[in-house]
Amino acid sequence: MILVTGATGTVGGATARRLAATGERVRVLVRDPDGAAANCLAATGAEIRQGDHGDPPSLRSAMRDVRSLLMVNPDPLRPAHDEALVAAARQSGVTHLVKLSVGGAGDPLARDAVTRAHRLGEELVRSSGLSWTLLRPRAFMSNALQWRRAIRRGEVVRVWPPDAPATPVDPRDVAAVAALVVSAPGHAGRTYVLTGSELLTARDQVRSLGDALGTVVSFAPLTRAQAARAWAERHPKAVVTALLERGDRQIARGTCRVGPAVHRLLGRESNTFSRWARDHAHLF
Ligand SMILES: NC(=O)c1ccc[n+]([C@@H]2O[C@H](COP(=O)([O-])OP(=O)(O)OC[C@H]3O[C@@H](n4cnc5c(N)ncnc54)[C@H](OP(=O)(O)O)[C@@H]3O)[C@@H](O)[C@H]2O)c1
Repeated sequence: MILVTGATGTVGGATARRLAATGERVRVLVRDPDGAAANCLAATGAEIRQGDHGDPPSLRSAMRDVRSLLMVNPDPLRPAHDEALVAAARQSGVTHLVKLSVGGAGDPLARDAVTRAHRLGEELVRSSGLSWTLLRPRAFMSNALQWRRAIRRGEVVRVWPPDAPATPVDPRDVAAVAALVVSAPGHAGRTYVLTGSELLTARDQVRSLGDALGTVVSFAPLTRAQAARAWAERHPKAVVTALLERGDRQIARGTCRVGPAVHRLLGRESNTFSRWARDHAHLF
């Protein structure tokens, strides 16, 4: 049995669906088992278990008979959740842990709170005494959904940094890798940096979205200070600082190397942003 957490979310959900479609016995940990997302997962054949990363007994109960665990901790400012997942895995006889981390975790220049918290989680996984695999994806292409409201209203999409290249990755590729390494042998003790196959700026992404939507989407750069003010309306201070520092690293070209892992593991190129945009045009 494989347990997937964060399964009503982007990567966990796609991973659970892939595993169920290939006939794996898969269980998902969800906070609301009666919600629409849990019902969709149940329809794929996944077994639904109620639980919360902040509730250790619920984790131990969900991990009964589980051999392999995909840990998705969406709130990296709560490293206690990684700690609870690793402790429950050890107590329940889980043998293999896969942690969804962040691309910056291996970059010594990345010292923001989100990256530091993921590093702590990685260290817990590595020192658990269990077999483990770490996944370090770069920014998800699906982050472009944050522009949906402006695009739908015909407003200008405003972004900082506008012209710094990065290697965003399709979360479906992240899920395909996660499904592979959580179910098949040969990945113990490995750390995979997951990137897209091309260098792209935010300006490129907005242009590509316009092509997929058959329209011109207006784009305007924000300054760093304007971005900080906009993010402060939606995120706690530590996350705003982390986003600013990630932007600074992007400008310094610290996040712009295309890595080989997705291609090596999946035997094909990682998805392009234009493919992601075409496949998700209906959401805009
Ligand atoms: N976005 C990026 O560009 C990016 C890049 C690299 C790495 N990452 C990492 O990817 C992870 C997020 O993955 P994602 O985008 O697939 O997640 P997501 O779509 O934000 O979904 C979050 C999931 O976690 C569940 N959840 C939230 N709090 C929980 C709790 N206390 N106990 C149990 N489950 C809980 C949510 O369930 P409910 O339905 O109950 O809310 C949901 O299923 C984070 O660790 C992030 O740092 C993100």
